[in-house]
Amino acid sequence: MCPDVHRSHQSDIAVSFQTTRPIGHNGAMDMTVFSKRRRELMDHMRGGVAILPTAPVRTRNRDVDFPFRPDSDFYYLTHFPEPEAVAVLVPGRPHGEFILFCRDKNPEKETWEGRRTGVDGAQEQYGADDAFPIDDIDDILPGLLENREKVFCSMGRNPEFDHRLMSWVNEVRAKARNGVHAPGEFVDLDHILHEMRLIKRPEELRLMRKAAKISARAHRQAMIACRPAAMEYEIEAELLYEFAKGGSRSPAYPPIVGGGANSCILHYTENSEELKDGDLLLIDAGAEVDGYAADITRTFPVNGKFGDTQKAVYEVVLEAQLAAIAKVRAGNHWNEPHDTAVRILAQGLRDLGLLKGDVDGLVENGDYKRFYMHRTGHWLGMDVHDVGDYKVSDSWRLLEPGMVLTVEPGLYIAAGNKDIPCEFWNIGVRIEDDVLVTRDGNEVLSHEAPKTISEIETLMRGR
Ligand code: GLY
Ligand code: MN
Ligand code: MN
Repeated sequence: MCPDVHRSHQSDIAVSFQTTRPIGHNGAMDMTVFSKRRRELMDHMRGGVAILPTAPVRTRNRDVDFPFRPDSDFYYLTHFPEPEAVAVLVPGRPHGEFILFCRDKNPEKETWEGRRTGVDGAQEQYGADDAFPIDDIDDILPGLLENREKVFCSMGRNPEFDHRLMSWVNEVRAKARNGVHAPGEFVDLDHILHEMRLIKRPEELRLMRKAAKISARAHRQAMIACRPAAMEYEIEAELLYEFAKGGSRSPAYPPIVGGGANSCILHYTENSEELKDGDLLLIDAGAEVDGYAADITRTFPVNGKFGDTQKAVYEVVLEAQLAAIAKVRAGNHWNEPHDTAVRILAQGLRDLGLLKGDVDGLVENGDYKRFYMHRTGHWLGMDVHDVGDYKVSDSWRLLEPGMVLTVEPGLYIAAGNKDIPCEFWNIGVRIEDDVLVTRDGNEVLSHEAPKTISEIETLMRGR
């Protein structure tokens, strides 16, 4: 999980709440978006060829696979939802620049396993200039590498695929005597592609707003459904039900639903215990919509009313979060929200009597890390911890319009801290929103999830 202001907006999906077709259904998306992305990438790779496999299918247990989820880079450039596919981009190739290898049509297999797009569909629906059966890739791909200077690829993510790629290059090298020239350079595709993915375009923001809206609705529903003696997994079920009803067929990551002591375990996902009267419940859950993630955390009292100590800790985290969000502005650097949050948390820990000393010292020597051990955010997009560099030549990068990041400070006071009064024990609070950098400030995509003490208590009182 954790890595290291709210402006209202007129959402273009605010009123209708119709479902978006999830990955696996090529629906609403305008396919010219993807050809523009491929063009932009190809303009950076003169003399090269780019090769991108989608994600492998992974086995869950005997005869059962995990639900397939395409590789984000591959999906960003193709929108092709099926497994066993490889995209090849060959700028300037006379027979077409975008080649897609995919599963061939096969009526018998389709009866068992579901529909396949096939090579004709790859051209007609996904705009491939050329498409070939994936089973023929060993015969065809080496020819696409001939007389190209560079191969753009992402090395190390899929060792089995890297191995095949080397064998294709070696096949071209073996033809040197025929005057065929093999690529002599491998270039990391991630750098160019991830810079593109870091700046979200309007069609991406539409999906991210939708993911945030569905997730905010799910958090509200969790607050409404929560009561003492409910099981954590019952609340998880409320979240997943709201996600699916809204058109999200998968959470963006396994939901964290942790009551009491479990709120102090950062990656708690067992979600198996009973919720107790007087405890807090921390929920970190976000929906995925057509490949785009939301990532929202809310913390609230199981019985609907914050106790005094819970309230005091919550107010510190909320103040830190709001101040950090206010630092999300174009021109500020990446670490400003974190620095701001840390200062307020350190001051709060001192005021609560949990740490001693002056605030500068607490920040400088890192004493606050005993209760705040993660960073304040990360990029958000197709991957919940999205791609994009955080530093440029050793300096924190400046925020730009179109970047989306989370702002998620927290305080976690586990039981057993003998020097800490026991009324603080088992209080874990994190508040996490998804924030878009705009031209003149920011937009909190997840603003519909209740956040202030009075919003939460009012909603829970009306249950
Ligand atoms: N849910 C993952 C994170 O907060 O970073
Ligand atoms: Mn996060
Ligand atoms: Mn989160």
